Amino acid sequence: MQRSFPTAWTFMVIVFFCFNQDIDGVNPGFKARVTQKGINYMRDVGLNILKQELSTLPIPDISGSEKIKGVGKVDYTVSNMRVNSFNIPSATLVPDPTIKGVTLNANSLSLAMHGDWRYSAKIAGIHVKDHGSFDVNGDGITLHVTIRIGMDSSGRPTVSSQSGDCVFSIGSLHVKFHGGASWLYDLFEHDISKALKKSLVNQACSLVQNGINTDLSKELAKLDLVAKIDDVAEIDYSLVSAPTFQGGINTANKGEVFPIGKRQEAPFPVPPIPNDPDDSNMVEVWITQFLFQSAGYVYFKAGYLEYNLTQDKLPSGGQISLNTSSTFVKIALPQVSKMYPNLLMQVNVNASSSPDVRMKPNSINGSVVIDAVFFVQLPNKTLTNMFTVQLTTYVSASLGFKGHNITWNSTVIRVDVQLLESNIGDINMSLLKSALDIAVRILLIPMVNEEGSKGIPLPSIDDVIFENPVIKVNQGYFKLGLDVKYTGSDKKTL
Ligand SMILES: *[C@@H]1O[C@H](CO)[C@@H](O)[C@H](O)[C@H]1NC(C)=O
Ligand SMILES: *[C@@H]1O[C@H](CO)[C@@H](O)[C@H](O)[C@H]1NC(C)=O
Ligand SMILES: *[C@@H]1O[C@H](CO)[C@@H](O)[C@H](O)[C@H]1NC(C)=O
Ligand SMILES: *[C@@H]1O[C@H](CO)[C@@H](O)[C@H](O)[C@H]1NC(C)=O
Ligand SMILES: *[C@@H]1O[C@H](CO)[C@@H](O)[C@H](O)[C@H]1NC(C)=O
Ligand SMILES: *[C@@H]1O[C@H](CO)[C@@H](O)[C@H](O)[C@H]1NC(C)=O
Ligand SMILES: *[C@@H]1O[C@H](CO)[C@@H](O)[C@H](O)[C@H]1NC(C)=O
Ligand SMILES: *[C@@H]1O[C@H](CO)[C@@H](O)[C@H](O)[C@H]1NC(C)=O
Repeated sequence: MQRSFPTAWTFMVIVFFCFNQDIDGVNPGFKARVTQKGINYMRDVGLNILKQELSTLPIPDISGSEKIKGVGKVDYTVSNMRVNSFNIPSATLVPDPTIKGVTLNANSLSLAMHGDWRYSAKIAGIHVKDHGSFDVNGDGITLHVTIRIGMDSSGRPTVSSQSGDCVFSIGSLHVKFHGGASWLYDLFEHDISKALKKSLVNQACSLVQNGINTDLSKELAKLDLVAKIDDVAEIDYSLVSAPTFQGGINTANKGEVFPIGKRQEAPFPVPPIPNDPDDSNMVEVWITQFLFQSAGYVYFKAGYLEYNLTQDKLPSGGQISLNTSSTFVKIALPQVSKMYPNLLMQVNVNASSSPDVRMKPNSINGSVVIDAVFFVQLPNKTLTNMFTVQLTTYVSASLGFKGHNITWNSTVIRVDVQLLESNIGDINMSLLKSALDIAVRILLIPMVNEEGSKGIPLPSIDDVIFENPVIKVNQGYFKLGLDVKYTGSDKKTL
């Protein structure tokens, strides 16, 4: 129970950080907004958890000594106090550009408590003791909390709530107690009620502010702003500027793919993301084509776009064959069939530049230029270089969202083939082109789409799932609208 409170605040704050960068005037590759809709959801989750926390709030015993008229000196203790219920009929959580954070206001709250009392006194020289229980109803309670949200030097979000940022006040406490003498009422009405109010007020704000300053801050310090794609690449989602609070909580993030553990900037411009007031989902995320271009650059630089195709890597019994006596080669490269019958070819493929990705309204295209060197393996295992072509593959792609991942699916638009060098004389390019077109569709695209079906991750947050993705592609970027669902410990009562 004690742990769920920081989780709630973590949830509330992390959701928007996972999504926003502006160092040195460079455009962020990624921006996000938690809209008022999302903030309201965060409020509900947070308050629900706060409610549970309050019901387990340890309230210290109160002891005192009082001179009661007609009775004398009374030593009393109230103990075993706990909050049975805490009602929050309505509350608002709103972004606040002035304080740079969010402010929670909840009024007309009420609570019910139970506790035990006992006293001892000397009345007319006789030692008297008694005990019983009591119920307390409190109403006219207000809670006002400011959470300040910023960024540290490493681009990590920070939260804090300063003294004075939390006000918990109680309008009145009505005590109803069971057993005891009538003068006890007076004692409760005054001293004990006052002490209890003071205790609750201190406890509630220290619970909330501890949650923010200690637990949530710790959680944020642990937050992984780098999402690993595989053993080669990771995505940097760190903040590039402090969040802003117009129309929601807005973040600007790096949004660039890097080789694992290295910060080597990709040499492409980051398209600007225009201001967009959209608040139709709980979270709106803007992702530029730069993120995909930087990914292509990392894999290209790492040599991952180099591949040697041999017969054993082809699906057996498929249409494509590297056997010079196969129908496929006979049709595509008739002279190779004649010059080198019944041998196997090898094709060494290597991208000659980083793959490109371009976005414009409702359209995403990708292209990759690869050099393919065709060899034939002679009976003595020597590879003979026959010719080299350059293949430019143009694809169109659609985007999706699965789990925490942005996924894609691409289809070939066209494959351009250019002969760069030949050691076997003239080659009928239209025949070769048809064969390469088939090879790209059967071999290359499924590989690209297999990666696409896994996708690239947004940072994952414990106990939070994304729902109802809405994708809209625009000039240089796409927008992803998401709703959020907290699946943590309190979901049953939400
Ligand atoms: C492909 O084969 C060439 C020799 O033909 C070799 O130099 C190169 O390292 C191989 N590349 C891969 C990725 O296996
Ligand atoms: C090539 O294909 C022919 C005819 O299908 C087959 O007889 C031959 O064994 C194959 N050669 C190699 C090297 O696989
Ligand atoms: C593949 O292409 C890259 C970039 O053009 C080049 O640096 C690399 O040496 C090439 N690899 C091979 C095996 O030709
Ligand atoms: C993608 O290619 C198609 C067909 O060539 C073209 O109509 C479309 O405008 C291109 N889209 C982008 C984003 O370049
Ligand atoms: C393999 O055979 C070819 C053609 O017969 C020849 O030119 C080449 O020198 C041979 N290579 C080796 C390593 O024997
Ligand atoms: C990818 O697109 C192709 C062609 O539009 C379609 O047939 C295929 O079902 C799509 N795959 C996925 C996983 O969406
Ligand atoms: C290439 O082959 C096709 C089909 O056999 C033929 O029609 C065409 O004339 C050939 N082109 C050249 C340049 O030889
Ligand atoms: C999300 O992407 C990561 C990295 O590519 C991958 O390991 C993970 O399996 C993907 N998740 C889903 C649900 O496809």
